[in-house]
Amino acid sequence: MAIEQIWIGTNWKMTKTLSEGLSYNKKIQEFTQSFKNPIKLFIIPPFTSLYKIKEELSNGDILLGSQNMHWEDRGAYTGEISPLMLKEIGIDLIELGHSERRQYFNENDQDINKKVHAALRHQFRPLICVGENKEQKDYRISLEILAQQLKICLYGVKKTQLPNIVIAYEPIWAIGEKGTPAEASYVSHIHDHIRSVLENMYGTSALNVPLLYGGSVNTRNFSSYLENKNVNGLFIGRAAWDTKSFEEILKNIDANFTSYL
Ligand code: 13P
Repeated sequence: MAIEQIWIGTNWKMTKTLSEGLSYNKKIQEFTQSFKNPIKLFIIPPFTSLYKIKEELSNGDILLGSQNMHWEDRGAYTGEISPLMLKEIGIDLIELGHSERRQYFNENDQDINKKVHAALRHQFRPLICVGENKEQKDYRISLEILAQQLKICLYGVKKTQLPNIVIAYEPIWAIGEKGTPAEASYVSHIHDHIRSVLENMYGTSALNVPLLYGGSVNTRNFSSYLENKNVNGLFIGRAAWDTKSFEEILKNIDANFTSYL
């Protein structure tokens, strides 16, 4: 087993004001203190909360991510946030290509590729989201779509840069209120495929890239996804926004850590 850590994180999307975020943060810092295992925990709040939350996360045990980032360092790009702005705050991860950004804001793989390079240039960890939509799944072209997304998003990324890359498989049909939770066997099959696409691109270095699953993960189904050795973590929305259910998931993972590796 190449990866000895389990990555668990949450994307807050457009939820939680600054004060709500701070009280959430306080709670998770309290209950994670007693964890005994290397759980790589990360939170991805909205931009407006990043600076203040970074101050509260002073010991660095919880990684902080940004939900997006422009590829240019500065310029006339109204409404965008640059790598330099995030660097000064001390952000660790940059989430790129989330399906909601692809669906509602027309992000494409080529733009994501530019952002991946910008993130690497500034020593961030790009967390690259890939996933097929329902129509593509029904046409049985999920594997081709995923290979294409990975090849374009990682175009020009060198093997030496691979240790900073994290991939999240987030099937669009499984995400959010209207999503249908994916079967664990399906996720397992897709993660094996993602690993083999990466191995074809990078050889054995690809074995160390954390592959996370996201889409309607909850307290009842999370453990089933972690059973495959190519699922190295979970990327959770709704079930992690409530600290009680997030605590239940995290405590279980800490208690049964080796069985999920
Ligand atoms: P849900 O867990 O709410 O389906 O969202 C998952 C997600 O989009 C994580 O980025």
